[in-house]
Amino acid sequence: MLKSSPDRYGAIPITIHWLTAILIVLALGSGFQAGNAIDPAIKAGFLRIHIPAAIIALLLTAFRIIWWWVFDKKPLPVQGVPVWHERLARGVHLALYVVILGMIASGIGMMLLSGAGPIIFGGTGATLPNFHLYPPRVPHGLGANLLLALLFAHIGAALYHQFIRRDGLLWRMWYGRRG
Ligand code: HEM
Repeated sequence: MLKSSPDRYGAIPITIHWLTAILIVLALGSGFQAGNAIDPAIKAGFLRIHIPAAIIALLLTAFRIIWWWVFDKKPLPVQGVPVWHERLARGVHLALYVVILGMIASGIGMMLLSGAGPIIFGGTGATLPNFHLYPPRVPHGLGANLLLALLFAHIGAALYHQFIRRDGLLWRMWYGRRG
């Protein structure tokens, strides 16, 4: 089933979810490495991973928004979950979208203002700019930490369902039927 049903996600949203998860982890890891790198060649190397990963995450997120808006309907909330859990989960999911899109916008802003694109990807040999001189670097750094916190909350909730409530919620986000 490509589309979702009332009790589980379809193959398309499942694929988007896990691909985006991999890309966001890659973008966070390479972003922190680039942010901490002193050597400009090493920084540029990490940014050559960081930026494409983030751009593919953007394309998948845009596709995901259109998917839910036009083509599919989310499964129903799991049975027996308190209303505040449900609301908190929805808040975290919305915040994930907003922060991811904000990270991409601020990242693109940094690149446009600094003109670093050709230096990173074109091998012009010019010196990399100091990104901290450009205003979008501030929300980008704060957003990175907020995104980490949201990811921990998101993963923590999935593990809580899997191992404490044992309601098999995680299997709704995987292929085929289980449990
Ligand atoms: C979901 C998307 C993104 C995530 C999760 C992300 C994450 C990060 C993280 C964790 C850092 C290091 C922050 C710090 O050390 O304070 C960073 C820095 C950076 N990111 Fe991103 N980023 C994303 C999108 C982008 C995009 C789309 C671009 C460019 C088009 C970009 C360009 C940069 C640059 C230039 C730096 C600065 C490196 C430095 O200060 O030396 N990022 N990013």
